[in-house]
Amino acid sequence: MSKVVLVTGASRGVGAEVATQLAGPHHHVVVNFREKAKRADAVVDAVRAAGGYASAIQTDVSDEQAVAAMLAEIAERFGGLDVLVLNASGGLEPGADEDYPMRLNRDAQVRLARLALPLMAAGGRIVFVTSHLAHFHGRKPVPADYLPIATSKQAGEEALRGMHQEFEAAGITFVVVSGDMIEGSTMVRLFERRDPDAVAARRHAGDGLPSAKEFACAIVRATHEPHRNGDTVYVGGPDYLS
Ligand SMILES: NC(=O)c1ccc[n+]([C@@H]2O[C@H](COP(=O)([O-])OP(=O)(O)OC[C@H]3O[C@@H](n4cnc5c(N)ncnc54)[C@H](OP(=O)(O)O)[C@@H]3O)[C@@H](O)[C@H]2O)c1
Repeated sequence: MSKVVLVTGASRGVGAEVATQLAGPHHHVVVNFREKAKRADAVVDAVRAAGGYASAIQTDVSDEQAVAAMLAEIAERFGGLDVLVLNASGGLEPGADEDYPMRLNRDAQVRLARLALPLMAAGGRIVFVTSHLAHFHGRKPVPADYLPIATSKQAGEEALRGMHQEFEAAGITFVVVSGDMIEGSTMVRLFERRDPDAVAARRHAGDGLPSAKEFACAIVRATHEPHRNGDTVYVGGPDYLS
């Protein structure tokens, strides 16, 4: 029996890497994306070329009706959902209003998890993807222009942790995967343009920065390895943990 896995924001970056690493006969990967249809189709093609099953669904996860429609489509086409990877993130897009980071990184994540629960049987998994900058916000410094994301992603993580009883009652295990800056990512390229020393310091703090492949590998493992409800997996940034 193959597992149905929904990866939000899987048209590029870490989400695309997670989707392709899940390629195989035992998963049907639902590649969610907001606007980049060609990139999402390329991810679907890569999964299929590797012998797996995948479909792309365009949905802005901050749009409640669109999310309900996506989940209805998943229920109808696949009969349910086994794993939800809450990877999609953002908030600094040009033209975004100041409330958008909280709507996307907190409210949309909680709503999606809550609406997905009825589709998920006991034994299912919800994985929330976050950054050390957000997870450790308040305990470690955050670049000023990342603050809206750090604050809203941390609020999203806390709100999801607040659903502990709901997850427990449904037999769903919730796992958080937090990563240091990811080498070569759009975010790090942006940081590097504004503050190359800060990124160099992060590289220096560990044995280099984790790659998207390494981060995705930890996320994929978190979808199936044994975990307790609420566990956190850390990738890179050993200085954050000391
Ligand atoms: N980059 C890093 O250094 C880093 C470090 C640690 C943790 N992380 C975490 O890793 C995750 C992925 O980051 P990334 O750097 O790979 O991101 P990214 O390259 O910016 O890609 C973001 C993905 O999310 C999608 N997306 C954005 N807004 C969406 C919305 N409203 N609805 C649906 N999909 C939406 C995008 O779709 P479109 O392409 O269609 O716009 C894209 O597929 C995030 O949770 C991030 O916090 C990243």
